[in-house]
Amino acid sequence: MSDLPNFERMFRLDGKIAVVTGGSRGLGLHAATAFLRAGAKAVFITARKAEGEQGINQAVDKLNKLGLKGKAFGIPANVAQESEIVRLVEEVKKHEDKVDILVANAGATWGSRFEDAPDSSSQKILDLNVRGVFNLAQKFSPLLEKAGTHDDPSRIIIVSSTAGTNVPHVGEHGTIMYSVSKAAAHHLSRNLAVELGPRNITTNTVAPGFFPSKLANGLIEILGGENELNDSNPRRRLGVPEDIAGVMVFLCSRAGNYINGEDIAVDGGARLAAGRLTKL
Ligand SMILES: NC(=O)c1ccc[n+]([C@@H]2O[C@H](COP(=O)([O-])OP(=O)(O)OC[C@H]3O[C@@H](n4cnc5c(N)ncnc54)[C@H](OP(=O)(O)O)[C@@H]3O)[C@@H](O)[C@H]2O)c1
Repeated sequence: MSDLPNFERMFRLDGKIAVVTGGSRGLGLHAATAFLRAGAKAVFITARKAEGEQGINQAVDKLNKLGLKGKAFGIPANVAQESEIVRLVEEVKKHEDKVDILVANAGATWGSRFEDAPDSSSQKILDLNVRGVFNLAQKFSPLLEKAGTHDDPSRIIIVSSTAGTNVPHVGEHGTIMYSVSKAAAHHLSRNLAVELGPRNITTNTVAPGFFPSKLANGLIEILGGENELNDSNPRRRLGVPEDIAGVMVFLCSRAGNYINGEDIAVDGGARLAAGRLTKL
């Protein structure tokens, strides 16, 4: 028999403290929900908007109505700006003196012809998807270091995209700088894995394919809609919240303890069948 102590708790996050950027909707909200349902003690979600249908407050209300032991907290912050990240860290410190999990999920995209992309679009994308992620890791590292141990390291998860490893869209609705920013996020993750691993912090990348969301819905429509994309996916569907929940809990639980510097694509295999001549 193998020695697998506490196997029953292998995928649990009991007592953990998590920060999720872009947690008010979409993939970030899927991750925050999963963390609380896996036993996390506190999940701090952040986004720019506090009010309204898409704001943080409605998300926090919904999470706290799940009737779970852990609590959700909302802190508005623009994580494309260093000063806002510093403030976010200080706000979290008012509640907790350590952080076990940081999910750098908030991201921006831009679609246009190559010739039409203004410099401001590149700046917006790089500020949030690359500089912002670096700054988040840097400013949260003292709190992450405090929580991590040799046996149970703290976790940084960078939400990238399969666009970070392939060239998904050029031409009329090209997303060149988005794709470039996500490639940078992948390599940032590998660098952080080596830099922070000895400080008991692991870093990994989750690279989603298409999941219906405010960010993705426009492009999904442009590409022919959900049915068309289902047909071109080896699994014949787009991503659903459970797909993100599963990989997030896995990477942040004891089950993911020894994984460091990995990219995990969550796309049903679509990135492998992305060639223009591929017809499944
Ligand atoms: N959905 C997909 O198909 C897909 C595929 C591949 C990769 N991704 C990646 O997954 C991540 C989440 O995307 P999503 O589809 O869930 O998008 P979404 O539904 O549009 O959610 C984006 C979240 O980020 C927040 N946000 C945006 N800019 C921010 C900023 N400067 N500071 C703080 N928060 C900010 C938004 O809230 P506010 O607007 O209030 O700030 C919102 O909470 C992104 O990194 C994206 O690139 C998504």
